Amino acid sequence: MKENLSPSDGIKFLPHFPTVLIGSGTGNNSNLITAAMVHVFSISPPMIGTGIAPERHSFELLEEHEEFTVNVPEKDMLEEVKDCGSVSGEEHDKFEEFDLTREQSKEILVPGVKECGLILECELEKQVKTGDHNWFVGNVVNAKKKQNYQRKEGILYWGGEFRIPGELLD
Ligand SMILES: Cc1cc2nc3c(=O)[nH]c(=O)nc-3n(C[C@H](O)[C@H](O)[C@H](O)COP(=O)(O)O)c2cc1C
Repeated sequence: MKENLSPSDGIKFLPHFPTVLIGSGTGNNSNLITAAMVHVFSISPPMIGTGIAPERHSFELLEEHEEFTVNVPEKDMLEEVKDCGSVSGEEHDKFEEFDLTREQSKEILVPGVKECGLILECELEKQVKTGDHNWFVGNVVNAKKKQNYQRKEGILYWGGEFRIPGELLD
């Protein structure tokens, strides 16, 4: 027997998603948003998309500059992940306030986050409107990783819970 759920409740029971800091904008106006809506849209060529709600300051910056960085934090950055998801870059310089360092990108003008273990630099390919979020899908034009970056320490989020990946099954 299965319990019936509303469609809105149904999606809340999906497993957790990788959670990243999306960098947008340039120079001192560059900003960070915590995003759990992030996915690979193509493997070859490599493309990544992130779902951003139109009311976010990041939305405006993504439309203006058409570039973004995907910065992957590990579990020791949980507080920064929460912080960047709790205030708007319209009034706050999140790099400054949350002790994060702008790291110059190689192929784009939007900076990455030095403290993150993996950084993907993306050029916007298309924007797709879907309900209450638009998907910004970009080509990954450069990627860099810290030597000691641990994929299994990446932060996952959904349904109000933060986790790290569990047991290796296969
Ligand atoms: C764990 C977590 C995941 C989030 N995921 C998303 C997301 O995928 N898309 C989105 O638009 N907002 C998401 N948010 C909300 C934004 O991070 C939050 O509204 C942020 O303050 C917006 O910043 P900005 O106005 O500077 O762009 C998330 C927040 C948290 C805490």
